[in-house]
Amino acid sequence: MLATAVSDSTALSHAFPALRARRLRTSAALRQLVRETRIDASDFIYPYFVVPGRGVRREVSSMPGVFQLSVDELVKDARQALELRIGGVILFGLPPAKDAVGSGAYDDDGITQEAVRALKSELPDLLVACDVCLCEYTDHGHCGIVEGDRILNDPTLELLSRMSVSLADAGADVIAPSDMMDGRVAAIRHGLDAAGHDEVPIMAYSAKYASGFYGPFREAAESAPQFGDRGSYQMDPANAREALKEVALDVAEGADIVMVKPALAYMDLIWRVKQATDRPVAAYNVSGEYAMVKAAARNGWIDERRVVLETLMGFKRAGADIVLTYHALDAARWLGE
Ligand code: PBG
Repeated sequence: MLATAVSDSTALSHAFPALRARRLRTSAALRQLVRETRIDASDFIYPYFVVPGRGVRREVSSMPGVFQLSVDELVKDARQALELRIGGVILFGLPPAKDAVGSGAYDDDGITQEAVRALKSELPDLLVACDVCLCEYTDHGHCGIVEGDRILNDPTLELLSRMSVSLADAGADVIAPSDMMDGRVAAIRHGLDAAGHDEVPIMAYSAKYASGFYGPFREAAESAPQFGDRGSYQMDPANAREALKEVALDVAEGADIVMVKPALAYMDLIWRVKQATDRPVAAYNVSGEYAMVKAAARNGWIDERRVVLETLMGFKRAGADIVLTYHALDAARWLGE
């Protein structure tokens, strides 16, 4: 198909003035008619950071407009998200206490479990995904069990599986593992099925890179690693073919949706992953990408609305079916105007 398109345009290079590309741009109505990509509020997933307490609504300093919310505030906020008809929300929990094995992650009365139960009872039509990872729950801030300076793979799988089952028990609609341990999708699928949650899908953070763009998130989620970095489990930003390997492994293990993260500097991966799999593809427009836009907009250097909608359009054009983004609520409002 691509080959034909290229030779067509070569042939047409002789065609001016018969062919004028601007002809299809002469009015808003024509431009709308030939538009190749559309974005809609239902494409977006909005991330929430849930904290203990009541009446808590604390802005994240590096992410203007994003708040750590207690469960009661979360329910109020999410009601708006549902009214805006966004695709769904994804929850990140900040437990009251952290320990070496991230016990708060798989506590049936944990902060995220409580948030899911509240959302599903107050707003049953809202799609609630849960991030599955230990880093917000461990005192060392790593995504797995630590021994010395090593992050252990296999002992972590059991905990991720327990966390997933506990969140599905609480009512989570989608389980989204972001830890990057090998074999986690299979372990989680097995755990969910054994617990009777065979209909709960897994959205795997498949091609997740060790990225500087997660900086503001680590403030929001209070999850910065206390030693070292995540280079032994998250991917090297230099690698593209390896992303296809990660996607293939996750699909083989039972991933229903695959994700590329971050999004902006990885648009080539969104495209390549889309070509490589028949699973829906998600892109995570991460915290640092959001922070940059907000900072420039606050300085009056860019038109925030234009830049945000253009960026979200870019992710879809590149092949993303779903975009996780902190701009979701603003974008949904703008698209509805
Ligand atoms: C947890 C997790 C992270 C993000 C999503 N899940 C942080 C990390 O891997 O350090 C980043 C999201 C963002 O930056 O918006 N592992």
